[in-house]
Amino acid sequence: MREVYIIGLGMTRFGELWAQSLRDLFAEAALGAIKDSTMVHIDSVYIGAMSPGLFVGQEHIASLMSDYAGFNGVPATHIESACASGGLAFRQAYIEVASGLSDVVMAGGVEKMNDGADATYALASAADQEYEAFHGVTFPGLYAMMARAHMHHHGTTREQLAEVAVKNHLHGTKNPRAQFKMTVSIDQVINATPVAEPLGLLDCSPVTDGAAAVILATKEIAQKSGKPLVKVKASAHATDQIALHSRKDLSSLPAVGTAAQKAYKEANIKPEDLDLIEIHDCFTIAELIVMEELQVVKRGQSGPAVSAGFSRFDGQLPINISGGLKSKGHPVGATGVAQIIEIVEQLRNEAGERQIANARLGMAQNMGGSGGSCVIHILEGES
Ligand code: COA
Repeated sequence: MREVYIIGLGMTRFGELWAQSLRDLFAEAALGAIKDSTMVHIDSVYIGAMSPGLFVGQEHIASLMSDYAGFNGVPATHIESACASGGLAFRQAYIEVASGLSDVVMAGGVEKMNDGADATYALASAADQEYEAFHGVTFPGLYAMMARAHMHHHGTTREQLAEVAVKNHLHGTKNPRAQFKMTVSIDQVINATPVAEPLGLLDCSPVTDGAAAVILATKEIAQKSGKPLVKVKASAHATDQIALHSRKDLSSLPAVGTAAQKAYKEANIKPEDLDLIEIHDCFTIAELIVMEELQVVKRGQSGPAVSAGFSRFDGQLPINISGGLKSKGHPVGATGVAQIIEIVEQLRNEAGERQIANARLGMAQNMGGSGGSCVIHILEGES
């Protein structure tokens, strides 16, 4: 396998973007990535999108998006793995360059969730239709059950869940592309409108429009591009039973643990070597369980660690410096690619007010549904 580098980044603002269509969003991100890379040619495109059919009534998006962005004729593939669609699109692009099939490949992600569709219904199509969604359980409901299980098994408190939202909103205030740039207090999180007990409005990622795109290339092309070198050090993917009732333990996410172990082995690093992580915090409880699966804290210790400031921008291991899904927003298909962009900007030392000192190794963890799929990438800055 060849070494693969990231040479171009492009991203829209995240939020309720009424003035831009699905194709406008993708084109803005894709052309931004092309401009950043200074490439004039790409060999192929992978586009992550969870459910453009349900959100805006548009299928066949790979051709439409690449044509509208000006890449007519280029092989284009739509990748779907629920909220992990963007991360998986990145992995497919990585495999295509690593295998030697292509030299320059775009990985993009896009979702327009605010165009009148029933977002809760569309999102629930990523759960088990017959046994979960049909009976009325939504994603906030599924993660609420996981939160209750984690509280029961490990003594995690309501305050500790709230700390995740407080931290990520604090981080998001420094991200000009974030949807919700306000700080929130523990009291505000705990007393927010209930959504699915114990989770309230401020424990949930929002409904978001947005797109992100990156360009991957060989080492030789990356060196010529003049950009700071950022290498894909590991790419791992795992799946699990998608229905919660099929799992032995609701307070864990086995697909994350499996993908993490593969990624650490491939990168030949330990969890403590990481300088920062973007975690898929679709709900506050998700960030806590994922920290444990990534083994950056011991099982059951994520709540106390977050309360102690472990994962703040000035803590031992900054997590979700971008604001995470909670504050930055979660246009589901775009999220995995946006996580990669945050890590690359940090490794390039281009993160402005959010910049972490001496960042060299970063991880992006992207997850589908309630953990039915997980894609993890470890990136290394070489400059
Ligand atoms: N965080 C902070 N504020 C939020 C928010 C969030 N997640 N979601 C909405 N708001 C704000 C809105 O800006 C609005 O503020 P305003 O009154 O000042 O304008 C207010 O809360 C109400 O917004 P509204 O759009 O009516 O909320 P809603 O009740 O329709 O939706 C949720 C709230 C939490 C149900 C919705 O965001 C949701 O379903 N989130 C989860 C998405 C999801 O499941 N993603 C997949 C994960 S696997």
